[in-house]
Amino acid sequence: MTPYYITTPIYYVNGAPHIGHAYTTLACDVLARFKRLQGYDVLFLTGTDEHGQKVEQSATAAGMTPQAFADQNAANFLQMSRAIGATFDQFIRTTEPRHYTAAQGLWRTLMANDQIYLGSYAGWYSVRDEAFYQESELLAGRAPTGAPVEWVEEPSYFFKLSAWQQPLLDFYESHPDFIAPKSRFNEVKRFVEGGLRDLSVSRTTFKWGVPVPGDPSHIMYVWLDALTNYLTAIGYPDLNNGDYQKFWPADLHMVGKDILRFHGVYWPAFLMAAGLPLPKRIFAQGWWTNEGEKISKSLGNVIDPYDLISTFGLDQVRYFLLREVPFGGDGDYSKAAMVRRQNQDLANDLGNLCQRVLAMIQKNCDGILPAPGAFTAEDDALLHAAYHLHGSVAEHLEVQAFHRALEAIMAVAGDANRYIDAQAPWGLKKTDPARMATVLYVLSECIRCLGLAMQAFTPDAARSMLDLVSVPTAQRSWADLAADKALVPGTPLPVPAPIFAKYIEDSADAH
Ligand code: ME8
Ligand code: MG
Repeated sequence: MTPYYITTPIYYVNGAPHIGHAYTTLACDVLARFKRLQGYDVLFLTGTDEHGQKVEQSATAAGMTPQAFADQNAANFLQMSRAIGATFDQFIRTTEPRHYTAAQGLWRTLMANDQIYLGSYAGWYSVRDEAFYQESELLAGRAPTGAPVEWVEEPSYFFKLSAWQQPLLDFYESHPDFIAPKSRFNEVKRFVEGGLRDLSVSRTTFKWGVPVPGDPSHIMYVWLDALTNYLTAIGYPDLNNGDYQKFWPADLHMVGKDILRFHGVYWPAFLMAAGLPLPKRIFAQGWWTNEGEKISKSLGNVIDPYDLISTFGLDQVRYFLLREVPFGGDGDYSKAAMVRRQNQDLANDLGNLCQRVLAMIQKNCDGILPAPGAFTAEDDALLHAAYHLHGSVAEHLEVQAFHRALEAIMAVAGDANRYIDAQAPWGLKKTDPARMATVLYVLSECIRCLGLAMQAFTPDAARSMLDLVSVPTAQRSWADLAADKALVPGTPLPVPAPIFAKYIEDSADAH
């Protein structure tokens, strides 16, 4: 089996998980599920980033030790990952012993390759961003992100980042799909073209981190520590072990646009300097706002993934997040949009379609899938559109265009709804029962294809759809989305139960 290695960022344990974290993890989950359907050997990694000054300060503010604080919040992120339905293979924590081994192993390799030297740092640092900034980058005394900065002067090890400017630019040039979306890739290139300074990669003024090998008065810069997690999970620094051999380089690092510089510039430079291959692709997704406002704790408008899921349902939330906003762009959450997607797309277009077709088969065909006669041009057109999803969904997901994949799937549901209205099978029972059988068969086969196509996105509902047309569990792979795997006439079908509920406004919060 071909390996496929996909990663989320590891989230800081300084606060509670919110919809932004769930979004990134969800996107990775859809790809992981989809690749498994295609027969890949998938490694899906997520986890938590537990060191650094930000976490240490949050722990102190909470009156806890950093470790106890990290334990508590890591458990919250683990729970969030499960709640959003993520089928991750590993949940990594940077406080695990194996991660210390990996991070220190990378440090030693960089030292051995003459990529790190001791000096001293005097400059600006933002604890919130865990990032160093140049004077020239500051805007009104703050980081370009709006985060506060403080002046730091301390002994520090430096990574020779400046030496990697040209190799990075050459790599970008020869790997035009390395970073997506394109506009973000261009930003990264412009940043590197602007010149790179050596990067401070150790701190001495606090303790919460991985000790620098051979000089424990320093701890590793949290980003060098954190990025190494992608290697820890596959057994680094042991390059001969099976997981490293199988899964490196990673196929995709999914990140938010806020951390693209770390993944698109620093990480590739560290890897080149360590003599390791670079990941195949980095995708920087956009930013969610809430009803037009930035999501922040101080504004009190953090969207809690648990609230969303309990109000609308897991499949509905998964569908909404990936359908509503072109992936890569910024998105705005609004309840109205969420309800519209749930009621129009899922309940009406998909749910009602299944209900209408399968109830008719119960009523008019004794619950047995009828045998079709010869297909008309209309029948062939609908089936062709359904089978076409096999290629089109795969192509869209290959470039992380989740919204386009869902658009293509829902377009077929739209075709099926127009077909059922035009064919009016309910009127055919008396006049032309053979034609009714053909129409209901074609629609059932279309439901099978839609169910297969929705599996990675709305796994529970897709399972119900496939159960309703009696598709054996062993016939639900991506290869099964094809004409030669079509439903077998004569198969008994269960009594249909509604798949997607409608959201009905609670009169208490309707104005
Ligand atoms: O940066 N909209 O962790 P972090 C969309 N530990 N995505 C959002 C979001 C929003 N409003 N808010 C957060 C870190 N995210 C580092 C990463 S990786 C080696 C280390 C998502 O807890 C998005 O993916 O600040 C963003 O990049 C990530 O959470 C940042 O999580
Ligand atoms: Mg952050």
